[in-house]
Amino acid sequence: EWSPASFVESTVAELKKQLGDDKVVLALSGGVDSSVAAVLLNKAIGKNLTCVFVDHGLLRKNEFENVMRDYEHLGLNVIGVNVKERFYKALAGVSDPEQKRKIIGSGFIDVFDEEAHKIKDVKWLAQGTIYPDIIESLSITGTVIKSHHNVGGLPEKMNLKLCEPLRLLFKDEVRKVGTQLGMMHHLIKRQPFPGPGLAVRILGDITAEKVRILQEADDIFINGLREWNLYDMVWQAGVILLPVQSVGVMGDERTYENAVALRAVTSTDAMTADWAQLPYEFLAKMSNEIINKVKGVNRVVYDISSKPPATIEWE
Ligand code: XMP
Repeated sequence: EWSPASFVESTVAELKKQLGDDKVVLALSGGVDSSVAAVLLNKAIGKNLTCVFVDHGLLRKNEFENVMRDYEHLGLNVIGVNVKERFYKALAGVSDPEQKRKIIGSGFIDVFDEEAHKIKDVKWLAQGTIYPDIIESLSITGTVIKSHHNVGGLPEKMNLKLCEPLRLLFKDEVRKVGTQLGMMHHLIKRQPFPGPGLAVRILGDITAEKVRILQEADDIFINGLREWNLYDMVWQAGVILLPVQSVGVMGDERTYENAVALRAVTSTDAMTADWAQLPYEFLAKMSNEIINKVKGVNRVVYDISSKPPATIEWE
């Protein structure tokens, strides 16, 4: 019988045996899987685990600072790397979604590789890979609709042995293990967020100003979901900055500014998803707040497409 307590006990024992006194490096994303993997490994091998958290400049508003604080609070040995400018430069002028993913994926591997090389005698790369990640990457018939960069790439380049303590678990089991390990509720219940982050939620090319606009709007939407107790009922939510300007009126001035789309879906595995039937009052509040507070946005729309045939992200 599987239980979080017995999983933690047996996995910690196995990790101790498998890793001995070896040094291990792990890339933290701020997400549930990598965070739980890190806390589990920390329990098994303590300071022999070094975690690296990369800020590519496409995270949510204040996400890097908040998550770093959480990780330190959890006692993790974590290095935060701010490489925003490097990523903005590499992404400048690039509009194609798969091109953006490639640039971010390979940029991420480079940064992580540089950091890992600073650790003396590191032997293992740990990852928070879970069972559905493995299944998805094994699909032989599937055409690549979107290339997700969570799995693959890193181990080949780095010549390290791979350690994946969550590889047999589903998301809900990972969350139970996190609770068993005493991790904070807001870390465990965090909604999925794509590796390339806001880069795939800014349609068209990326600029620091567009990132600012999207971060502000997204922050209002996500905090709103929390305040209205809707956050945990939704699989995933976020805002998309559209490459569209439209006419509006503010006071007696004509405006010609950006439109954003709110996206919220319910799902159990992200393979299929329904648009979330959020209360009209809530949507009205969000629209008002975003238009009043976010300079550069004068129109808000709500995405009512389900997957399939739409996807969760817009690109
Ligand atoms: P789609 O848009 O394909 O998304 O319905 C399914 C799930 O995958 C996430 N997603 C990504 N995750 N790198 C990631 O790590 C990516 O490039 C990527 N693209 C989409 C998406 O947020 C959703 O949870």
